[in-house]
Amino acid sequence: MSDNWTKDSWRKKPIVQVPDYDDKKHLKDVESRLASYPPLVFAGEARRLKENLAKVSKGEAFLLQGGDCAESFAEHHPDNIRDTFRVMLQMSIVLTFAAGCPIVKVGRIAGQFAKPRSAPIEKQGDTELPSYRGDIINDISFDKELRKPDPERQIMAYRQSASTLNLLRAFAQGGYANLDHVHKWNMGFVRESKQGEQYDALASRISESLNFMDAMGINSDSSQKLRSVEFFTSHESLLLGYEEALTRIDSTSGDWYDTSAHMLWIGDRTRQPDGAHIEFVRGVKNPIGIKCGPSLEADELIKLIDIINPENEAGRITLISRFGVDKVSEHLPKLIKKVEKEGKKVVWCCDPVHGNTIKASNGYKTRYLDTLLSEVKQFIDIHQSEGTYAGGVHIENTGQNVTECCGGSFEILEEDLSSRYHTHCDPRLNANQSLDMAFLIAERLKEIRS
Ligand code: PEP
Ligand code: CO
Repeated sequence: MSDNWTKDSWRKKPIVQVPDYDDKKHLKDVESRLASYPPLVFAGEARRLKENLAKVSKGEAFLLQGGDCAESFAEHHPDNIRDTFRVMLQMSIVLTFAAGCPIVKVGRIAGQFAKPRSAPIEKQGDTELPSYRGDIINDISFDKELRKPDPERQIMAYRQSASTLNLLRAFAQGGYANLDHVHKWNMGFVRESKQGEQYDALASRISESLNFMDAMGINSDSSQKLRSVEFFTSHESLLLGYEEALTRIDSTSGDWYDTSAHMLWIGDRTRQPDGAHIEFVRGVKNPIGIKCGPSLEADELIKLIDIINPENEAGRITLISRFGVDKVSEHLPKLIKKVEKEGKKVVWCCDPVHGNTIKASNGYKTRYLDTLLSEVKQFIDIHQSEGTYAGGVHIENTGQNVTECCGGSFEILEEDLSSRYHTHCDPRLNANQSLDMAFLIAERLKEIRS
């Protein structure tokens, strides 16, 4: 175990982005109830993800991480879970085909409820209320009572995560993800789009190969790899009382794991080396992501890596860069050079969404697909010129036909945003825009890997 670490040692460290609960006794009571509930994931699964990420760090696989900015109680519907799962499958098919390597699939799902905010207070007219911090903490409605942090919401988030995960496991293992169904994942509005056609063409080639393999005696009946996928979960490790309550000792290894998700990441606002969030994650053995924004200096990054991964274990750390299209070329090379010089084993992953959020003229928070694609392209090019491996992408997306980001083949304009704008926090790519992104990355990966 890490020196002087306990699952509650974070409580003695400076902390930012914490909700202010009125009733501390109620909070304690909720945390002890959660601590008695079953784990959501198994330590062995988190280790398996770490092994997969170790392969990514060596250039032998590619990481695809995506899902909601913030899951919500209102959007808890089987269709939404299926659609997110399906678009991740579609993206990974496109990427596998191009890159010719395994795609490690990780959802921002089954636990992605807590949100860091740029301001603790939101003002509308003359009224000031606590900011919305995600459904696990308070309600999005601008209402005095509903904006009060309510501990009971943690229990609701836990139960929703359990039921979401249950369905994801069924989809991944129970037949939905069978490669024989590769055409069926292209449904509804996606099928009609340019990307849908491109996807169908690719799916036909896969079906042809499957027919050939079937003739050779290899098919989804005989091979588990053809009839199921591995799908992992992740979220920001932000609400530490909740994370602590789900942190357990794994009986196999004797190590501590946070069983709320397979992978956890530290957000760009909570990565202070001597702060509570870093203290918490250093002691759990799950794979850990670190968001790297423009304010992160190379020396500080090394310090963080040393704290979280003193043994330099491959797969433990994923660096998720989120600089913004105008800043990536200034900041990323410095970090790469330093990490290489120090010999740190990491996965380099690009989050092209969080540095490129803007306010449209009609007030909607949005992102332009072209801008996002441009950050990803630069990320890949920079890695190529530094001789390192662009190992993954981290996006906010949904399988539904929302209108939250601009651009893409349906050419969503700012005036279209109000039509189907459903997100509880940041704007998500819809299924078409997600496929657009997958095809772009696929093209670049193909060039690089050949
Ligand atoms: C997020 O990933 O939802 C997020 C808030 O990102 P960041 O910490 O990079 O701003
Ligand atoms: Co976000």
